[in-house]
Amino acid sequence: MNDKQFTTFFLGVMGLLLVIFFIIFFIAQIVSPETKKTDSFTTNSVVSRIEPVGKLNYSDTETAEVKSKGELVKTDLYSSGEEVYNAVCQSCHTSGILNSPKYANKADWQNRLSKGKDKLYYNAINGIGAMPAKGGRSDLDDKYIEMGVDYIIQSVE
Ligand code: HEC
Repeated sequence: MNDKQFTTFFLGVMGLLLVIFFIIFFIAQIVSPETKKTDSFTTNSVVSRIEPVGKLNYSDTETAEVKSKGELVKTDLYSSGEEVYNAVCQSCHTSGILNSPKYANKADWQNRLSKGKDKLYYNAINGIGAMPAKGGRSDLDDKYIEMGVDYIIQSVE
């Protein structure tokens, strides 16, 4: 192989490699176009995933809104002592399970009534003996428990 032959051979090999390079490059472009482009949906979902957990709110407006919404939900929860009783208290106070004083049973309530309403409220809210605080519904506002107590008391007065 003389110099001229070598140069021709060498350039031929380089040219061939260049052609192979472009073929592979274009095949790669065709096979994986999606991974390169990001559509707005992907961008949005990525942004929402890396969003900060909370935002600082320096104005009163939103807080007031949230508050009023929260109160709306709470006042809507139970509208009467009877509803509270049926939802929370009756599971024990109707049957007298765990020795709980029964609804509308004067004898059961006689001694308890003499404690005064405030003490009964307090014990129902904080729990007494086998009765768990708020009858187990610690998520409820105190006022619902008081409504429930009122409903029980009016049955034995
Ligand atoms: C898991 C059963 C249970 C549930 C639910 C329950 N109670 Fe009771 N409750 C008891 C028991 C037991 C006692 C008696 C506790 C004692 O005196 O040792 C009692 C006692 C009371 C008393 C008398 C407290 C006192 O000072 O003598 C009141 C008032 C009362 N419950 C109200 C309620 C109201 C209102 C609800 C619903 C919001 C409720 N309870 C739900 C079991 C329950």
